[in-house]
Amino acid sequence: MGYKEVYADWQADPEAFWMEAAKSIDWIVEPTKALHDENAPLYEWFSDGVVNTCYNAVDRHVENGRGDQDAIIYDSPITGAKSRISYAELQTRVARLGGALLEQGIIKGDRVIIYMSMTPEAIIAMLACARIGAIHSVVFGGFAASELATRINDATPKAVIASSCGIEPGRVIAYKPLLDEAIEMADHKPETCIIFQREQAEATLEPGRDHDWNDVQADVTPAPCVPVKGNDPVYVLYTSGTTGQPKGVVRHTGGHLVALNWTMKNVYGVDPGDVFWAASDVGWVVGHSYICYAPLIHGNTTVVFEGKPVGTPDAGTFWRVMQDYKVRAMFTAPTAFRAIKREDPKGEYRKKYDLSNLDTLFLAGERADPDTILWAQDQLGIPVIDHWWQTETGYPMVGNPMGIEALPVKVGSPTVPMPGYDVRILSDEGEEMPAGELGAIAVKLPLPPGTLPTLWNAEGRYRSAYLQTFEGYYETGDAGMKDEDGYLYIMARTDDVINVAGHRLSTGAMEEILAGHPDVAECAVIGVADPLKGQLPLGILCLTSGVDRPHDEIVKECIQLVRNKIGPVAAFKLACVVDRLPKTRSGKILRATMAKIADGEEFKTPATIDDPAIIDEIATSFKTLGYPG
Ligand code: COA
Ligand code: AMP
Repeated sequence: MGYKEVYADWQADPEAFWMEAAKSIDWIVEPTKALHDENAPLYEWFSDGVVNTCYNAVDRHVENGRGDQDAIIYDSPITGAKSRISYAELQTRVARLGGALLEQGIIKGDRVIIYMSMTPEAIIAMLACARIGAIHSVVFGGFAASELATRINDATPKAVIASSCGIEPGRVIAYKPLLDEAIEMADHKPETCIIFQREQAEATLEPGRDHDWNDVQADVTPAPCVPVKGNDPVYVLYTSGTTGQPKGVVRHTGGHLVALNWTMKNVYGVDPGDVFWAASDVGWVVGHSYICYAPLIHGNTTVVFEGKPVGTPDAGTFWRVMQDYKVRAMFTAPTAFRAIKREDPKGEYRKKYDLSNLDTLFLAGERADPDTILWAQDQLGIPVIDHWWQTETGYPMVGNPMGIEALPVKVGSPTVPMPGYDVRILSDEGEEMPAGELGAIAVKLPLPPGTLPTLWNAEGRYRSAYLQTFEGYYETGDAGMKDEDGYLYIMARTDDVINVAGHRLSTGAMEEILAGHPDVAECAVIGVADPLKGQLPLGILCLTSGVDRPHDEIVKECIQLVRNKIGPVAAFKLACVVDRLPKTRSGKILRATMAKIADGEEFKTPATIDDPAIIDEIATSFKTLGYPG
C-alpha cells in the first residue's frame, strides 16, 4: 500500500487502524478498544489496556533474543567517553535503579524530576521510572534554577534524579547547586535526590535528602515491571507557552507505546536492529520520543551523543558518529546542519567518512530553510526529510512516510499529514482556506494516540489554549498553508513563541522577567531572524521615568537577568533602550511590525498606530544592534 491508501485506510476506520497498530505492543491486558470519547472533546486511547512501557522498551527484547544487541551507544566527544550498553545490561541497570527508587519510597503515580546531562544514565533514569509506574518529568540542563523550581512546584515530585554537572564546550556547569537553589526557591520540597556524580564536578551531598547514584543501588532488589493502565501518564514534559508558566504536556502510556512504535518503520523507515540517531537532548520532546522511547520500543539501537555539531572537536563529528556506528537514519534540527555548513561549506570533512549505511536524514524542530536542505542533500546524496510536529503531539503530524512510500520532496514543505492527523488550514472564523492561502493550522479532533490528552493539573488551560479557538479542532499555534497536492507549508507561530536553535521559547516569559528589573517600566521581546539559530530574542526596553543610569549598564543587567532566570538556553543577548514602544491607539504593542523592521522586511505602519514617529526611533535602535543584518 502507498501513502494514499494507508491514509485512506486510517480515515475509513481509525479504530481498526490503531487496534491493528496496538498488536505490536506486548500488553498485560489487551485493550478492548482504541478510542475513548466519553469525555469529548477530551479523548483518551487504550485506557483499559494494562501494560508497562519499560517492559516494551527493554525486557521484551531480551526475551526475544536481542539481549546482546546494543540498546544504547554513548559517544561523548566533549569528554572523550564512549560506551555501549546491550539490551540485557540495560535491563539489569534499569531494574536496579527501579529497585532503588522503590526503596526510596517512590511508588506508581509519584512524580520524579530528572535533571541530567546527556549520558546513558538519563535514559536509564527515565526507563526506571516507567518500570515502576512513576511519572518522570525531565528538565533540560540549560534551564536555570528558577525554571526548575517552577517545574518542581507544578509536578510536586517525590524525588529528583540529577547529574552533578553538565559539560558544555569550554566549561563545566555544576547542576547540583542549581538543583539546591531550585529546591530552596520552590514551595514543594522533594524528599529524595539521587545524584549521578560525574568526575568533572562532583557534588556535595546533603545528608538525609541526597543519595549517591551508586550507593542507592547497592544491594537492592531489582524492580519488576509494574502494570499500569493505558491512560496512566508515563511522563509530563514542560514546554513554553505564552506566559512564564510552562505547560505540562501529559503523555499517556498506551497511546505513546502504540504510536511511537508505529512511526519507527512507517515514518522513519528503520527496522528492528538498525541504529537510529537523534542528535538532540533528553530534555526536549525529540529526546523523549526519538533518543529514548521509540527506538527502544521498536528494538533499535539508539545513539546518546554528548556534543555539538561543531567544535567538539570539529565539523566532522556528525559524519564520524554516522560512520562509526553505521547509523541508518538520523534526526536533528536544521540549526545543527547550518552550523556544520557555516564551518565547512565545501564539505571537506564529509569526504573523510564512509556514510554508506545512512538512508535518510530527518530535520524538525524549526523551519528547515531550503539552502540547508539542499546543502545536506548535496553532501549526503540521500533523501533529506523535513517533518513537522511539536511537544504536544510527541511524534510527526506532517512528514514523508519513508517506510510506506517515499513521496517526492518539495523543498520548503514537510510534506503531508501522517495517518491520525486530519490537518486543516483555517481562517480566523474557522472556515477552511483554499489551497495556497495562509491560515491557522488546526487538527480535527480527536488527535491520535500518543498525543497530549490534557495539561498536568491544568485541564482548563488545556481547553482554552488548544480547543477553544476552533470548535472541534486542536489549534497547533502554527500558521501555514497547503498546496494543490496537499503538501503543508509551515510559515510562522500565531502566538508569542519563538524558536531559537530548535529550542522553543516564550517571549512572554522573557518580558515578565525584564519587567521585573527595577528600572524597566515597559518592554517587549520579539524574535528576529538569525542565520545560524533561525531566530534570536531581542528585547526592547522603556525605562522608568527619572532613571538616568547609562543604558548599556541596564541592558547588561537585563541580559544577565534573563540568563539567571530562564537559563543560557534562552540565548538572550540583544536588547536596546527606547523612549516609547510602538502601540496601537488601543494600547496593543506592535511586536510583529518591530520584528519586520529588525528583519529588514517590508512593512506597513498600521493605521491604528498611536504615534508613527516611534517607528524611526525603533529602526535606529535596531541598527545599533546590527539589525537588519
Ligand atoms: N546545560 C547547560 N547549558 C547548556 C546546555 C545544557 N544542557 N545546552 C546548551 N547550553 C547553553 C550553551 O552552552 C549556550 O551557552 P552560552 O550562551 O554561554 O554560549 C546556550 O545554552 C545556548 O545553547 P545552544 O542553543 O545549544 O547554542 P550553542 O551556541 O551552544 O550551539 C548549535 C549552537 C547550533 C551548535 C546548537 O544550538 C545545536 O547543536 N543545535 C542543535 C539543535 C538541537 O539539538 N535542538 C534540539 C531540538 S531537536
Ligand atoms: P517543540 O514543541 O519544541 O517541538 O516546538 C514545536 C514548534 O516548532 C512547532 O509548533 C513549530 O512552530 C516549530 N517546528 C517544528 N518542526 C517544524 C518544521 N519542520 N518546520 C517549521 N516549524 C517547525
